[in-house]
Amino acid sequence: MQLSRLAAPLGAIVEDVDITEMTTEQFTLVNDWFCEHKVLVFRTQTLTPEQQIAFAARWGRLVRHPYAGLEDYPDIIELRNVGKRRDINQHWHSDMTYNEEPPKLTMLYARSAPSIGGDTAFANQELAFEALSSGLQQTLQSMRAEHTAAGLAQQYKEDAHEAPRAEHPVVRTHDETGRQALYVCRAFTHKFVGWSRAESKPLLEMLYAHCTRPEFQARHQWRKGDLVMWDNRSLQHFAVHDHADEEPRLIHRLQVSGPKPS
Ligand code: SIN
Repeated sequence: MQLSRLAAPLGAIVEDVDITEMTTEQFTLVNDWFCEHKVLVFRTQTLTPEQQIAFAARWGRLVRHPYAGLEDYPDIIELRNVGKRRDINQHWHSDMTYNEEPPKLTMLYARSAPSIGGDTAFANQELAFEALSSGLQQTLQSMRAEHTAAGLAQQYKEDAHEAPRAEHPVVRTHDETGRQALYVCRAFTHKFVGWSRAESKPLLEMLYAHCTRPEFQARHQWRKGDLVMWDNRSLQHFAVHDHADEEPRLIHRLQVSGPKPS
């Protein structure tokens, strides 16, 4: 296997490996690379849904999306180009932070890709935390925030009152590396625990602007056959919808369970 960096803030490309034949030794190394670089790209893979599921399951239990999933493969969500107006992933987020135990990783496999555009953007939340002043770091380390899927439920025409909710630390510690990362996102964070929404808003807005600064970001430009996995414990991502509505973009997406953030 060969590793090359994707960008300065995060990401790496792994070549010369067929993920369906990865040995235990290779898998251990790949997990080290994953924790270090946060996004891994495996090019030119040819995978059935069963093979994608089997590879993801090496990291742990698969987690179903609350509102979507293929009929034959309920662990897999199909992301299709449904046009810019209807694309609900054009925002910065970490996946399913409204769950008590949000997924630790998300894995996407491109069955087709646009000729240009349709990248996925990532922002490194460890770098975002490190770049804050020590005063604000200390304040945030003692705070918790409420996360909710109410907005998502509305997009799927489900009952927002029944939507999952959870409380998490505003700064989480990675269970494998011990590194600290900022853990709030515009999509799902509702307010700080013990603060009103109006009180929370100015500080949350400041953090949202800070945590996606260009120097924390990298982008993946999709090719058919790419398998990409990212670390939800230390990243946010954004589906950049700048491709034409008629361009193909068909991606199979699944998630692996993670620990309760602490
Ligand atoms: C997602 O937000 O999970 C999808 C990302 C993408 O389609 O690029």
